[in-house]
Amino acid sequence: MSSRVKVVVTGAAGQIAYSLIPRLVDGKTFGNKIVDLYLVEIPQVVSKLEGLVMELEDSYFPQMGEVKYTDDFEEASHNADWFLLVGSIPRGIVYEGKKIEERSDLLKINGGIFVSQGEAIGKYGKENAKILVVGNPANTNALIGKNAAGKDSQLWMAMTMLDSSRAKSVISKKTGSNISDIKNMIIWGNHSPTMYPDVENVLICDKAGSEVINDMDWVENTFLPTVQQRGKAVIDSRGASSATSAAKAALDTIIACENPTEDGNSFSAAVVSDGAYGVPEGLICGYPLFTLADGTVEIKRDQSLSEFAKQKFQISIDELESEREAVKHLLK
Ligand code: NAD
Ligand code: LMR
Repeated sequence: MSSRVKVVVTGAAGQIAYSLIPRLVDGKTFGNKIVDLYLVEIPQVVSKLEGLVMELEDSYFPQMGEVKYTDDFEEASHNADWFLLVGSIPRGIVYEGKKIEERSDLLKINGGIFVSQGEAIGKYGKENAKILVVGNPANTNALIGKNAAGKDSQLWMAMTMLDSSRAKSVISKKTGSNISDIKNMIIWGNHSPTMYPDVENVLICDKAGSEVINDMDWVENTFLPTVQQRGKAVIDSRGASSATSAAKAALDTIIACENPTEDGNSFSAAVVSDGAYGVPEGLICGYPLFTLADGTVEIKRDQSLSEFAKQKFQISIDELESEREAVKHLLK
């Protein structure tokens, strides 16, 4: 008999969720496990989830288990293995009469959501639950949630996989290699325009990026701004933030955590700092990660950073510190 996994998804009536949820039960992300879904929305739109559940039922997903929906996060959180915290307000929309463009606005609006959700996850989620925060500002929302949960056995992550996939795409175009030949694509720091996508430790057809890409002008003036500003570029074009690529990145993060990482490779997500690479303890910071055969996720600690890389990384660390300062009233 297949084992089961229970997955809670917030923001389930939103645009990322519409692309994400069907692929949680398609037999690829969780292999042959039966996937029980608990979908969460705010009271104003929770009734829309009835239609989404109808569609899921009509789609013939043999690995789909129970599917429930609610506006009560606490009810959903009992014994869950995975929490995909997508629910929050994106940039680019008008909220209470104001166009939301700045991260500081998001911090004010979205931060509060993660206190009560974090408390429920700490109380009712599985001891070894994994939590992926997608909703922005993802790192600081994860910081708030982790703090409220207060349970070190649970793994809190903020999503930087999309940045890593974007960076792979830009490098593959520059070098003429296939995206699957690009490995160890690290995103250091914050999921924000200060992130530092690492072109030195990346492996391109098993060769270090520092050897293959010998063009600092391109790195500084094309590669970094393209990756750092890609979210904004999509918003400017679509009038809505990246959805299908964000959903794919969330699925890729789950797959990376559910399967051992091959030697030499790593995957990107932001996790709590224990001081690794000189990052102040407690910040939720983008790191290279790997998964062991027993499912434990660890920080890869043997990467070297040039002076250029250290300087860029520090800008993002400083931003994470200032975000922590701005939400200190929400931290226990
Ligand atoms: P969306 O507006 O389409 O959907 C968000 C949904 O969340 C809405 O349906 C809303 O009702 C719901 N919601 C709000 N508060 C909630 C709560 N307390 N509990 C449950 N549901 C709640 O937005 P979207 O395009 O799906 O984006 C969602 C978030 O993901 C945004 O914050 C966006 O900025 C972020 N995002 C992150 C990344 C990343 O790489 N980390 C990439 C793209 C988007
Ligand atoms: C993204 O990277 O696409 C999202 O975080 C949306 C944004 O606001 O940039």
